[in-house]
Amino acid sequence: MHAGEPWDALWLNLHLATLELERGYGEIRDAALAVRDGRIAWLGPRQELPGGERAQIVYDGRGGWLTPGLIDCHTHLVYAGNRAEEFERRLAGEAYEDIARSGGGIMATVRATREASEDELLRQSAVRLRHLAGEGVTTVEIKSGYGLTIESERKMLRVARRLGEVCDLRVCTSFLGAHALPSEYAGRGDDYIERLCAEMLPALAAEGLVDAVDAYCERIAFSPKQVERLFARARELGLPVRLHADQLSDCGGGALAARHAALSADHLEYSSEDSIRAMARSGTVAVLLPGAFYFLREARRPPLPALRAHRVPIAMASDCNPGTSPCTSLLLMLNMACTLFGLTPAEALAGVTRNAARALGLQREAGRLAAGLQADLALWDVRHPAELAYAFGANPCSGRWRAGRLASSGR
Ligand code: NIG
Ligand code: FE
Repeated sequence: MHAGEPWDALWLNLHLATLELERGYGEIRDAALAVRDGRIAWLGPRQELPGGERAQIVYDGRGGWLTPGLIDCHTHLVYAGNRAEEFERRLAGEAYEDIARSGGGIMATVRATREASEDELLRQSAVRLRHLAGEGVTTVEIKSGYGLTIESERKMLRVARRLGEVCDLRVCTSFLGAHALPSEYAGRGDDYIERLCAEMLPALAAEGLVDAVDAYCERIAFSPKQVERLFARARELGLPVRLHADQLSDCGGGALAARHAALSADHLEYSSEDSIRAMARSGTVAVLLPGAFYFLREARRPPLPALRAHRVPIAMASDCNPGTSPCTSLLLMLNMACTLFGLTPAEALAGVTRNAARALGLQREAGRLAAGLQADLALWDVRHPAELAYAFGANPCSGRWRAGRLASSGR
């Protein structure tokens, strides 16, 4: 360590994929990147580096590629137990919606999550998050929604916050009290929404546990009218919103999200072109979830041509959850977004960096390599960034940095 060096940390002998532009990777070959006070201070071709190649720490990129740290912008990774038995039932022919209607599905995980202690929930969830982090993830969004009482929703959100420290990454929380109707409120959906608006959301927000509000708008969950009520309350509390929209049927979810200037509308398999147009106008990011599409063996794909035509920013995420996407690999989602939905590898990488940052309202902090942003970085042992979407089951991540510091739970 040498005090007075021009940079706190310097990366040399590598290429950069900056993800700065709307298209492509933003390639800078034989580059250097310098960090000061946790932020990117300089990046560009190595020969143009000002001040010489001196820093307190110099990292040798070994000819690999440095990208922004990956961002998983939609997960339900805090939960207890699993639903392998439900998977077997679905394979034997039962439908996801029928299992949900008969008290299984989300409610099965609610029962297990309510029973688990906070420490046990942390232990089970950390296993999943470590796996994501090992693939270069430096920011993760985590939803509540398997508690559905104030105590158990608080427990989930506290675990989410603690996970950020345990796994050395940035956690953004979303309150998803409107995920399923708890049996205590059977037949009284409006009353439950009222309870969320009057008590649960304001209390948990006041405790600093809520960064955004999410809801599940679907015929087996909450109606557009109920979601409108919740979103109006979120706005009063100054909280941004996002929505599980049009996953199993067209509920006009994309348009509803756009009306509330939602950060993102997620799933979107059944969204109409009107919804997509509205999302384009409101700047709402489309978050595609190929893991859930694959695991539910959906036939209907999200409307990629319309998303492209209307220039809606596209992100993708793991949707890590026990029922529809028991997945802890964001790299696998890159591959599936290409093979199942038809994205290009460059669109896929932008979907877990630049556009995922936007889906979390973090576009000025993360998701690109640019001077001034936090130095959240991932180093890859690949010849070209397209390989990140090309290979599946591989993990070429060789380093992960959070705000310029080597992150501890990386491989
Ligand atoms: O994103 N759609 C609602 N929530 C999850 C499924 C949750 C579950 O089945 O446990 C999803 O697919
Ligand atoms: Fe989800």
